[in-house]
Amino acid sequence: MRIVLGVTGGIAAYKAAALCSALVQRGDDVDVVLTEGAERFVGALTFAALTRKPVLTSLWEAPETIPHIALARAADAIAIVPATANAIAKIALGLADDLLSNIALAARVPLIVAPAMNSAMYEHPATQANLATLRARGVTIVEPGIGFLAERESGVGRLADQEAILAAIDASATRARELAGERVLVTAGPTREAIDPVRFLSNASTGTMGIELAREALARGANVDLVLGPTSVTPPSEARVVRVVSAQEMYDATLARAPGADIAIATAAVADWRPVQTYAHKRKKDEGAEGMSLERTPDILATLGERKNGTFLVGFAAETRDFETFALEKLASKRLDAIAVNDVSGNDSGFGTGPSELVLLWPGGGREELGRAGKGELARRMWDALLRVRAERGTRT
Ligand code: CTP
Repeated sequence: MRIVLGVTGGIAAYKAAALCSALVQRGDDVDVVLTEGAERFVGALTFAALTRKPVLTSLWEAPETIPHIALARAADAIAIVPATANAIAKIALGLADDLLSNIALAARVPLIVAPAMNSAMYEHPATQANLATLRARGVTIVEPGIGFLAERESGVGRLADQEAILAAIDASATRARELAGERVLVTAGPTREAIDPVRFLSNASTGTMGIELAREALARGANVDLVLGPTSVTPPSEARVVRVVSAQEMYDATLARAPGADIAIATAAVADWRPVQTYAHKRKKDEGAEGMSLERTPDILATLGERKNGTFLVGFAAETRDFETFALEKLASKRLDAIAVNDVSGNDSGFGTGPSELVLLWPGGGREELGRAGKGELARRMWDALLRVRAERGTRT
């Protein structure tokens, strides 16, 4: 594996030398990047001797090679060990004022951050908020342990053990290859069914769950097609995004991309009805609503189920009562391989960017509670469960 080891300026920087040695001994190709602070704690020569490679310390050493971009692209994983409060804050904010922060910003490979600092700095709400931001973006945080700190007191903030850091690097790199070579199709967002040029029927979906599932599929190495209804939430730039408005457009775009998809996940809140007639001109209120009738929109997911040829098909069900019974009916009638159910009976409808709660069901009575979490975390849990279920079944139905 090719690993960029970023070392920042904390007393635990000396432990990064042992980690570097362990990585080299097991055969990894390691490029070490030291921040200015790190260099005050450990010399570049130590790492150069361990890796038998030049150690990178500055953006300006050989600017013609654009080292931050080259390294960010070539690596299988980037590990920042130890990560100071300052380094964590910079990455959370997207600041790029030295080589390591530039690499972190340019990278599209797994990022593993192992914090080490004084307890008060670690527990400060600012650091905790920055760590939460990184976690929400899919960064792996290797939690610090409790132990003897440089201040000669015991507290949380001690760099995690080497074994834990190595395991986190391996798990992240494995996860990044999990869907390599596979094509994932996701529908997301609401649809709008036009009544006239300014009015439409729609719903409160923001597409967030589908966008997070697409983001996580990309993080696991998939090629992702995202068919997205109207939303102001920004989809990941690496996905092939097709913007649609109506259920019919979503149907056409999705069915066109379905053949050959390895996995398709329908998260879209497709409008169930549309006006039979769309008026070409804005309807005057005096003209009334008489004669306005509705018809069913095509069921995209059911059609994917009818035509599926090896695609692992996943649906969503939002229910207010008997939710697992209704979801199981959808699982069977739409020929799904799994369905994610959320109970939308409470005040918290599950729409929007806030947390949600999901249960995953699959044929043969399989059931897994994914719990309540932010949608980024739920997307990770859902992919873990889906890929495990698919692997257990061995074959693609
Ligand atoms: N779906 C779809 N095309 C539609 C309607 C729904 O692809 N026209 C998908 C959704 O993306 C979701 C699942 O089907 O994955 C939801 O099933 P559905 O039967 O539409 O749920 P409800 O709208 O809640 O239906 P019902 O009123 O019958 O419970």
